[in-house]
Amino acid sequence: MDELPRELRRALAEVRSVGAITGAGVSHESGIRTYRGKGGLYDDPREGLETELALSGRMFRASPERTWRVLHDLLAQAWDARPNPGHLALARIEAVVERFTLLTQNVDGLHLAAGSRNVIEIHGDVRRLRCEACGARRTVASPDELAAPPTCHACGAAVRPDVVLFGELLPPEEVARMQRAFFEEVPDLVLLAGTSALFPYIAGPVQLAKAMGKVTVEVNPEPTELSGAVDWALRGTAGALLPALAEALEARGRNG
Ligand code: OAD
Repeated sequence: MDELPRELRRALAEVRSVGAITGAGVSHESGIRTYRGKGGLYDDPREGLETELALSGRMFRASPERTWRVLHDLLAQAWDARPNPGHLALARIEAVVERFTLLTQNVDGLHLAAGSRNVIEIHGDVRRLRCEACGARRTVASPDELAAPPTCHACGAAVRPDVVLFGELLPPEEVARMQRAFFEEVPDLVLLAGTSALFPYIAGPVQLAKAMGKVTVEVNPEPTELSGAVDWALRGTAGALLPALAEALEARGRNG
């Protein structure tokens, strides 16, 4: 409870709607590697660059097996991972506010596993596959399925991951949901957690909320591009700070 500044607690008392935006840092305490920073997937002068390149649409078209190798590793680490107190806290927040949207860049499915419902998986989910030839979709039964480029069970064609690769467009339905939740009805609180916030569609909702006088909070052990733009840049882990924020929002109900 002491983690939160008193002024922030006061601001939270007025909050009726929340838009949370998460990145890999929120899953770090579930044993999932971040992309950037120390120990991240791209934190290796050679392999890191290779990994980043392998996650591009261009590489997927030229050498799909390289992309599948990285996706296999991503899936393997997500497979046995369980939601941590940070994920669970976001589900608790959804239960005590009038309107809640969670925009995540993560492809590990842990927010849904934690019980969050209104989730926009803007980069997709590494467990899902879709066939561009016949449109069939399926969820993988085990990480081994991605050890070699998988094929469609319906028509036999090569399938693609239901993940947004670098250089590809974001899924239009999810973009429309994001537009409604963050730009048309700007939430009272925009809460950014565990992301380096490099993409404009991640920074945009935070900047708009700030410009409109809404409450903006960042949860991250390290400073990011957006730290200077938010009202409160809270330094600490998602597993520690998101439960404190959930507790503060829940306490309003108890205090009338
Ligand atoms: P990054 O790896 O860029 O950033 C992770 C952030 O989490 C960093 O700012 C860390 O300081 C922070 N962090 C680390 N541990 C944390 C913890 N326990 N609690 C809270 N924060 C913590 O990951 P993203 O911002 O998610 O895209 O990266 C965005 C996108 O870039 C990914 O979705 C992926 C990647 O390339 C695609 O693959 C399309």
